[in-house]
Amino acid sequence: MAASKGQLRPFLNEIHKAANYIMEHVEKRHLISVVSHMDADGISAAGIMGTSLARMGATFRVRIERWFDNKVAETIASEKNALTILTDMGSGYLDILNDKMKGKPLIILDHHQPNGEAIKDFVHVNPQLFGFNSSRDISGSGMAYLTAKALSEENMDLACLGVVGALGDMQDKNKERSLGGANQIVVEDAVKSGKMETVIDLIFFGRETRPIHKALAYTTTPFIPGISGEEDKSLDFLMRLGIKLKINEKWRALRDLSQEEKRQIFSSLSDYLLSKGLKSDVAMSLLGTVYILTNEEPWTPLRDAREFALLLNSTGRTGKPGLGVAICMGDRGRCLEEANKALDKYRQAISEILRWIDDHPDWLEERKNIYVFHGGETVDEKMISAVSTILMTNVPNMNKPVIAYAVIPEEGILKISARTVDELTFKGFNIGEVMRVSAEKFNGTGGGHDIAAGAQVPMKFREEFLKTIDDLVEDNIKRLAKNGG
Ligand code: C5P
Ligand code: C5P
Ligand code: ZN
Repeated sequence: MAASKGQLRPFLNEIHKAANYIMEHVEKRHLISVVSHMDADGISAAGIMGTSLARMGATFRVRIERWFDNKVAETIASEKNALTILTDMGSGYLDILNDKMKGKPLIILDHHQPNGEAIKDFVHVNPQLFGFNSSRDISGSGMAYLTAKALSEENMDLACLGVVGALGDMQDKNKERSLGGANQIVVEDAVKSGKMETVIDLIFFGRETRPIHKALAYTTTPFIPGISGEEDKSLDFLMRLGIKLKINEKWRALRDLSQEEKRQIFSSLSDYLLSKGLKSDVAMSLLGTVYILTNEEPWTPLRDAREFALLLNSTGRTGKPGLGVAICMGDRGRCLEEANKALDKYRQAISEILRWIDDHPDWLEERKNIYVFHGGETVDEKMISAVSTILMTNVPNMNKPVIAYAVIPEEGILKISARTVDELTFKGFNIGEVMRVSAEKFNGTGGGHDIAAGAQVPMKFREEFLKTIDDLVEDNIKRLAKNGG
């Protein structure tokens, strides 16, 4: 395996400790509760843990939460189970867990930036404690996979799900949009298990399943101005290139195109993006490593690992994460059928939001150091995460983080999603830290990663909270500049 900056051996030792602890509880026939996060990474992690526990004959249940807070901690603490396994959540809220879960068996398998230290009662595994980057080197599902492999080599067939989760978390930040760091073990195991292969190709959303013009229009990472979300314009773009969109009345997908046709599309898209003033690396990100899950049926969204991640995300974001967990645990019948409907719904919701953004330029406000997207009560809080991801590469000045929020009136809170870009995190900027500090000032909870973070804050503090973020971003950027960042 190629070298990575983290200390792999001690990290894996800690993973083994978690696996041994799980084994002890399974042998004692204790009820195990897996609690995970609602996005693609969290759902994959839950699927991996669920499958490994089922294979051991354990008694367990799986629950998906939209975020971690005091209420979730109280629920977990009140449950009558002997072991709780938190995946893809928990590390950012150790103070809450130390308080509410004291004396109870708890395993935290998470890659969010840790805040404080876990008490000795818990097994807390986090890659950052071993020198890995928490947003790039391994995901929550990658950690669940490594634990599953430590439980039994039989679980190596679950490595693909670790890849799906890492791609859902956009960890493909290495050369040719590949996964690196400790993720390399997960990728190698997925290939070794005979269930995955990688190719370098155009990265469009829906390469396996959608007519080419739709796949291009669905591509929002990177955001292609005038084409992302605009099927008609995408169709027009491809027709002008002379690409045959149908053969014998059947739409062609990206997988059906010849190398020459794909080269032509890439070259025209690069010219187009440059003409829109975007840097050449934006165009380059359209080309990269495609992770193909070879055991999945062609023409289904499960075959391309990035599309699989989108499918899982859409189950969570449309309020049906159980479908995603079932798919990860092997269901290819009714749950997949339902999830496909959720995917359509999610895509429509994203298109609708893109239209709103175009129609309401006033919703995006440029402040001194940040952009604020006022989703208000119009944008569903479950969509605000996708909105902030899309906006980040679509604002005039990418050096200003995007802070998008939606209001949840019945709970009296704001759901905030914050994003920044690699250029700033590589200099040491950390939006997760900004969100944590600002949220805590206003009786809320916040945190995440250096590049992507979130918070929940009482809605009455909206303006003061946004002002605090703006000021903190300024302080942090000034400090980094002073230190030569
Ligand atoms: O909770 P978790 O770590 O799994 O989620 C990270 C979230 O941040 C994902 O929803 C992912 O899509 C998002 N992200 C992003 N931009 C990045 C990296 C991550 O929007 N560059
Ligand atoms: O919800 P969203 O996708 O914007 O979250 C971005 C990242 O911030 C995710 O990794 C999420 O788990 C994390 N987050 C957090 N604490 C919160 C809200 C979000 O750690 N209160
Ligand atoms: Zn994650």
